[in-house]
Amino acid sequence: MNISGLRKKFLIFIILAVTITLALVSLKFVEPTVRQYLLNIFSSSDEHLGITAVNLFDNLIPILKILLWMILIVAFVRLLNAVISTTLLSSSQYEVSNLLQNVISIVIFIVAFFILLQTQYSTAYEKLAPVFTGSTIIAVVIGLALQDTLGNLFAGLAMQADQPFQVGDVISIPNKGIGVVENISWRGVKIRTFQNKLIIISNSVLGKEAIEVAPRENLNARTVFFNTLYANSPSQTIQVVREVVRQVENVSHKIRPVVRVRNLGDNGIDWEVKYWIEDYTKHNDTDALIRQRIWYAFQREKIEFAYPTRTIHVETKKQDEVFVETDNESVELLSNVDVFAPLSDKETRKLAEASRFRVFAPGEPIVRRGQPGNSMFVIYRGSVNVQIKEDGRTKIIRNLREGDFFGEMGLFTGEPRTATVEAEAETEVLEINNFCLKPIIEDNPELVESFSRIIEERRKSLAEQENESKSEQDMNGGGVFDSIRKFFGLKG
Ligand code: CMP
Repeated sequence: MNISGLRKKFLIFIILAVTITLALVSLKFVEPTVRQYLLNIFSSSDEHLGITAVNLFDNLIPILKILLWMILIVAFVRLLNAVISTTLLSSSQYEVSNLLQNVISIVIFIVAFFILLQTQYSTAYEKLAPVFTGSTIIAVVIGLALQDTLGNLFAGLAMQADQPFQVGDVISIPNKGIGVVENISWRGVKIRTFQNKLIIISNSVLGKEAIEVAPRENLNARTVFFNTLYANSPSQTIQVVREVVRQVENVSHKIRPVVRVRNLGDNGIDWEVKYWIEDYTKHNDTDALIRQRIWYAFQREKIEFAYPTRTIHVETKKQDEVFVETDNESVELLSNVDVFAPLSDKETRKLAEASRFRVFAPGEPIVRRGQPGNSMFVIYRGSVNVQIKEDGRTKIIRNLREGDFFGEMGLFTGEPRTATVEAEAETEVLEINNFCLKPIIEDNPELVESFSRIIEERRKSLAEQENESKSEQDMNGGGVFDSIRKFFGLKG
């Protein structure tokens, strides 16, 4: 209720109060006159009738007074409730519970009952009062009868003080159900389930349960599960699902959804996507929409859900499709690398035969600085960062992309890896092993020259990045050229 509504209620109450007070006061003055008048009229015919009429009048007067007082008390209680709900509403965003109003109303009505009884029927009150106050048996009987009610009332009061949930929150009670809190009263809580049914739980029962609350004003998280075949790249799945989930209505943009591998299961990779929801009351619809969108995205991106029976069939086939290791592809890739240009088709094919495709996750190291290495890598897809450590922190010195190569320093000189090379995105590389290299470089001395030039340049840039000076011999190229020839045991 707003302030103007409250003002109107207040005005009505004042008018009512003035009218009833006037009626009660005038009743006091009119009472003896009316009594005398009745006595005169009815006694004229029969004296007995006059007394009966007066008695009847005397009995009616307190009833009338009680009625007038009751109207006034009810109006007062309603005004008080309006004041409470208006003040509580303005102090918080939540719809106020009517528990407090109920308790206050009951107390006022009980007190009013005793006062009216005492004033209007003093003799009856004197007889009744000891019964109410003195009788232990009655106290026990009332106590037992009200046991549940009082239990609910006190549990309700405790809940009101604690406010574990509000109207509009979603709560889940074990073995009872889940739903939106619709009403909190002195007796219990009404919950509207997602099947549009009502669950009414008494406060005393609720007080004993462990309740899960998803507050309305809170960013609540949800988890949706799905699975994919082992053949599908985890990194791609993460990207696709995250993007899809972000676009679903009711998914909060304040926190990025988390897509992660839950388990490497029997049938495929088990995934979970955790997202934060704006309106928790619609979580079932949002979960369903997310599952639906994931299905469509998987169709577009050729990602497949894992089926227990199919996985066995599909897995080997898909494996081949995703990370294809055909000779042709390796030959094609190697032919496009400038440094291998002098090689004949036969030599390139030989080199390709000694190579294999390998895939790395984003952030995964492919080679580590200081470790021995006897292979080099050509990037087939993705990108890598060449990095060193400086003052304990990682420093990226180069970013290499599709068609670039790395690891040649270790391969050609036999020295430990000079830097750590880490996949930036999901990256597939062609790893060339050293065992086929000797005859190839024996027949192609220009290959040694090109590689020693590249190694020199990279060493120089590495040294600059590390603020180190390299020996003159290393800088002029002769050092690397000779050490490559020595390493491969080349004559001449
Ligand atoms: P290797 O020493 O075998 O392992 C680390 C690799 O990082 C190295 O071979 C080079 O291929 C690469 N690398 C080192 N320094 C540089 C640089 N300055 N620019 C490009 N690549 C580099």
